[in-house]
Amino acid sequence: MSEHAACTDNWEEVKATSLRILPPHIVEFIEKNAKTEHPESNLIATLHMVQSHFGFLGQTQMHAVAQLAQIPYATVTGVATFYHYFRLQPRGKHVINVCLGTACYVKGADKLIARLSDDLGVHLGETTKDQMFSLESARCLGTCGLAPVMMVGDQVYGPVTPAEASRILDKYLKGEKAKTAPREEPAATHVS
Ligand code: FES
Repeated sequence: MSEHAACTDNWEEVKATSLRILPPHIVEFIEKNAKTEHPESNLIATLHMVQSHFGFLGQTQMHAVAQLAQIPYATVTGVATFYHYFRLQPRGKHVINVCLGTACYVKGADKLIARLSDDLGVHLGETTKDQMFSLESARCLGTCGLAPVMMVGDQVYGPVTPAEASRILDKYLKGEKAKTAPREEPAATHVS
């Protein structure tokens, strides 16, 4: 075992704990890199793997990465918060992407974000408390002719005004309410 990995005397315990949190292929990847001279050089790749498995980087997962890779937790969170790509909380059921590419921006995409942000009560990059919606932005969704454009999941909408953005949101909210509304019992049939 390398000098780096040998600095913990309870390696097997660390590994066993990590295996309760991270999938085996990620543990194996980290373990292999922890034995190199610069384990932190693979930290970004590791965090990509963790995010693609869990959908976000939770504190528990980042602690496990830090322990197993023998990297300070502050370094792990520093990298995770530095890169815009990494998400520190789970995404909502519906991901709303407002395009902030040039064509959309000049046609008022920032106003769409302001409206949606007000309607949802979250800032850009955040998820609603009920985990239903995440408000995100993108750089050109490839449909500039429809600017300003927003997407909800795979569905593209454009051109969208702030009022239409609210209506689109409303459609999804109503759809969710309909799914959770209690079903009416069918009327009893009496057979005499
Ligand atoms: S700039 Fe928004 S779709 Fe291209």
